[in-house]
Amino acid sequence: MFGLTTFLTALAALAVTATCTYNPPPNNTFGPDADGKYEISAEGIRAYFIPYGASVTNLYIKDTKGIERDIVLGYDNASYYAEDPRHPHFGGVPGRYANRIKNSSFIIDGEEFKVTPNENNNNDTLHGGPDGWDYRNFTIVAQTTDSITFSIVDPDGKEGFPGEVVSYITYTVTANTWHIKMVALATTKKTPIMLSSHTYWNLDGFANPDTPTALNHTFHLPYSGQRVGVDGILIPDGTILANEPYSVNDFWSAPKQIGANHTAPELVGNCGTNCRGYDNCYIVNRDQDGPYDWRTSGPVATLASDFTGIQVDIFSDQDAFQMYSCGGMNGTLPIKSTQGGDGLPRVVQQYGCIVMEVEDWIDAINQPEWQREKKNIFGPGDPAYVLEAKYVFSVNS
Ligand SMILES: *[C@@H]1O[C@H](CO)[C@@H](O)[C@H](O)[C@H]1NC(C)=O
Ligand SMILES: *[C@@H]1O[C@H](CO)[C@@H](O)[C@H](O)[C@H]1NC(C)=O
Ligand SMILES: *[C@@H]1O[C@H](CO)[C@@H](O)[C@H](O)[C@H]1NC(C)=O
Ligand SMILES: *[C@@H]1O[C@H](CO)[C@@H](O)[C@H](O)[C@H]1NC(C)=O
Ligand SMILES: *[C@@H]1O[C@H](CO)[C@@H](O)[C@H](O)[C@H]1NC(C)=O
Ligand SMILES: *[C@@H]1O[C@H](CO)[C@@H](O)[C@H](O)[C@H]1NC(C)=O
Ligand SMILES: *[C@@H]1O[C@H](CO)[C@@H](O)[C@H](O)[C@H]1NC(C)=O
Ligand SMILES: *[C@@H]1O[C@H](CO)[C@@H](O)[C@H](O)[C@H]1NC(C)=O
Repeated sequence: MFGLTTFLTALAALAVTATCTYNPPPNNTFGPDADGKYEISAEGIRAYFIPYGASVTNLYIKDTKGIERDIVLGYDNASYYAEDPRHPHFGGVPGRYANRIKNSSFIIDGEEFKVTPNENNNNDTLHGGPDGWDYRNFTIVAQTTDSITFSIVDPDGKEGFPGEVVSYITYTVTANTWHIKMVALATTKKTPIMLSSHTYWNLDGFANPDTPTALNHTFHLPYSGQRVGVDGILIPDGTILANEPYSVNDFWSAPKQIGANHTAPELVGNCGTNCRGYDNCYIVNRDQDGPYDWRTSGPVATLASDFTGIQVDIFSDQDAFQMYSCGGMNGTLPIKSTQGGDGLPRVVQQYGCIVMEVEDWIDAINQPEWQREKKNIFGPGDPAYVLEAKYVFSVNS
């Protein structure tokens, strides 16, 4: 009896301790807010996310004048992401295999797999298929004031992909920095995995009275003297091309504005048949630097705008970097109520944004001679797929 009483007393004390030390978070911090968005924040940065595609919806950074600018594209509320049939992949995580899969097929250990096509009259699969990860609601599994973690369980056979994949997407903010960590496990069979963050940027928050475009943003890819060669529908053809100095794809020898070569004849067809601009996978070549720490070895990409002075330096452990200059925008998608300015257009104009995606070499599953199987195909016995990146913001005066 004595023993039991002591035990119960101890238990009660524990329960009391637990009750007393548990501080429920204030409701306004842990969302969702009235628009279905979840906020995290740190000094100099405030970001909002939704379960749909584990997408970033708003990212606020102060400009040279101290005015907060919402510098990513998105919609005003979470429900519209699922409703809008145009599905521009605003800020989501394309998965389980980002970018295009040639002929919607691939071979693993001699076995051919066919996945669901969804682009170019069903000639290829883009961003994981018609019901890829960024068409689905992830589950929120953890949240603090400066961090949020989403998870998804992608079943065996979904969109034609072999085996189940379980993934965790963690977004964290620290002073002036947005951190991304993506982990994915192939739990049952060998399968292709390639993830990314498909965020569209306009560092002016569409408030620049001189231009609705991002063509005056300055871009630098210091490690990218090469890019993946593609055909007219942006499917890699196996070639690796040189970005010769002063050519339209040379963003490595010196920073230049996205629109610096806008009238150059070579820019037509550079992002697919008849497309003027960029939608290219640039290779990140860091081997000559010896063992490098991606966190400190310098950014793989930098984007900056003179109008707001906002600059983002992107650090990543990935070996490629996709940049799309929004040539496909045509003034039909809305900007958010948090963006724009008096008398300025409330829609995204052609070249009004820049998509930047940290990722691996695209469609490497169909280019075995690139020998990137260990970075593209994952099975139950393999290390986890991991993608890490940080976006460091600063302001130039
Ligand atoms: C938080 O929300 C819950 C349920 O919606 C409500 O009962 C509670 O009073 C709220 N707390 C605060 C501090 O607003
Ligand atoms: C949701 O957002 C969309 C696009 O931003 C907008 O057109 C729509 O009116 C919004 N709906 C509500 C209920 O606020
Ligand atoms: C995802 O969640 C949104 C609300 O955030 C909801 O409108 C939508 O119907 C959900 N979609 C699916 C496929 O569950
Ligand atoms: C395209 O995929 C089909 C299987 O769906 C295969 O039979 C065919 O050989 C593939 N074509 C090319 C050109 O790879
Ligand atoms: C796609 O495939 C069809 C045949 O299925 C073909 O006619 C067409 O030219 C291909 N290319 C594009 C870009 O649609
Ligand atoms: C592209 O722009 C850069 C910077 O203005 C210039 O040096 C280069 O000659 C241009 N290249 C072409 C092909 O127009
Ligand atoms: C903006 O870009 C246009 C076209 O590329 C160029 O003519 C103009 O000089 C640029 N303006 C500034 C302020 O850099
Ligand atoms: C304009 O862009 C939207 C969304 O990207 C697309 O659905 C629509 O077909 C385009 N319209 C024209 C006329 O090109």
